[in-house]
Amino acid sequence: MGKFYVTTAIDYVNGVPHIGHAYEKILTDVIYRHYTQRCENTFFLTGTDEHGIKIQKTSAEKGISPKEFCDMNAQSFKDAWKKLDIGYSKFIRTTDEEHEKVVQKIFQKLLDKGDIYKHAYTGLYCSGCEAFLSEKDLTEDGLCPDHQKKPEVVSEENYFFKLTKYKDAIIKHIQTHPDFIMPSWRATEVLNQLEHIEDISVSRSKSNVSWNIPVLNDDEQGIYVWIDALSNYITAIGYDPDGSSDLFKALWPVDVHVIGKDILKFHSIYWIGILMALDLPLPKHIFAHGWITIDQTKMSKSLGNVISPTSILESFNLEIPDPLRYYMATSAPCGKDGNYSDDDFKEKVNAHLANSMGNLLNRTLSMLVKYFDGDIKPGFLGKNELTEQAVNTIKAVKHHFDYFEIAEAGQKIIELVDITNKYVTDNAPWTLAKEGNMERCGVVLTNVLEVMCVITSLIYPYCPNIARSMSDQLSYNLDTKLDNLTCSNLKSGHLIDKENIKPVFLRMDSELADKAQKIK
Ligand code: MSP
Repeated sequence: MGKFYVTTAIDYVNGVPHIGHAYEKILTDVIYRHYTQRCENTFFLTGTDEHGIKIQKTSAEKGISPKEFCDMNAQSFKDAWKKLDIGYSKFIRTTDEEHEKVVQKIFQKLLDKGDIYKHAYTGLYCSGCEAFLSEKDLTEDGLCPDHQKKPEVVSEENYFFKLTKYKDAIIKHIQTHPDFIMPSWRATEVLNQLEHIEDISVSRSKSNVSWNIPVLNDDEQGIYVWIDALSNYITAIGYDPDGSSDLFKALWPVDVHVIGKDILKFHSIYWIGILMALDLPLPKHIFAHGWITIDQTKMSKSLGNVISPTSILESFNLEIPDPLRYYMATSAPCGKDGNYSDDDFKEKVNAHLANSMGNLLNRTLSMLVKYFDGDIKPGFLGKNELTEQAVNTIKAVKHHFDYFEIAEAGQKIIELVDITNKYVTDNAPWTLAKEGNMERCGVVLTNVLEVMCVITSLIYPYCPNIARSMSDQLSYNLDTKLDNLTCSNLKSGHLIDKENIKPVFLRMDSELADKAQKIK
């Protein structure tokens, strides 16, 4: 595969990052890192969505300018992603000057084409969604179902985008591309929404919303926040109606937009209509993930259960984000809702990362030192049932990633860890050594270490720091591309030095982990 371009939704900066935002960025980072192991040219875009009525109101309540407020909160998103090792290639802010300029040009292009027109309108606006809702979207009490707030009645003369002109083409595209919306079962919901679509309002009167990008040559109107926000996927890589950058030409169309299920309509209907109007190729996939609950309860400010991802790292004294990344990325089957709970977090990462995976590497390396002084003899190397299992796991993991089944791929990796642990127990290298069957003992240990190299590569997207520590101890090249990954990673000769063997991850509640933290 040549290139891979992946994006996340850009987060509203009217608050600080929570575990739901983090879930999406972790999933995307895992996808991105996996594809860096398969492609030469990869790009990962994330950022913040900074315009709109919500920011305008919240910053006014705080008595600071919207820009100051955005600067402060955008930084807290960047800081959080740094702590979680989210390795994005670019962080776009919709208040970036370059983005604002190109959004104005995009708007103008659609006006010139006749796909945007002016129209007087009265509608129900939910500032939580930053969207007009129709009566049938509301609950029986007339509330927005997502934000449990009564939308405001807004009467304005706005610009409208002729979405209905593209309705049939969008339906056809979804029907003829079964892997366009992922998981594919979500397509039915989008096709139902398409039945009822109307043209959409794409501007707000400046007298009602001042914190937005002005429409060129019209002082009365500002560009609707969703048009501004969705355009980030192309402006960030250099799209320009007057001539796009080489980066844009190399990367577009995007391989996958990773978004939450709540904003699928904006991506699979509105955005697709706009791209069609701009005569641009369409995204290859839109992957809608589920939502994260806390202890099985929806997160909300009023319930006071909004959790920050960095506070989890702090409260467990974690120096690397890998356990949280692994836990979140494997918390829900593809597209379904997941849950965070402290106890479950601790239990799962202790079991998978410390007990199963970490211990396996540690005791195998220790045995290689004890019985062979860290040396691998040529006769130890070869293929067998276990290494075949590893090769099958590589294929299965790649297949899951093709469908953005991140938790499912993670499960396959842990299954391979379990199979390898069983192989060690069944073959009991310590007994073989005691019996003096050193040839067989060496073969068993080498088979396990070969498979550990495969596990190191496969776990890397979830746990980059742990994988690095594993590859160091195995003298294994973590840059190996998955297509070249076989079970012949080890060379005969000296593999390790005794000083280098250490647990790659300590149980979160172990005395050793506590001690290590106290020393530092
Ligand atoms: N700004 C818009 C997106 C514009 S994309 C061109 C937005 N922002 S948001 O801050 O409300 O949400 C950002 C992303 O976080 C969305 O994909 C949303 O689904 C996701 N999540 C917000 N809360 C979440 C959970 N509790 N769980 C999982 N994801 C959640 O929408």
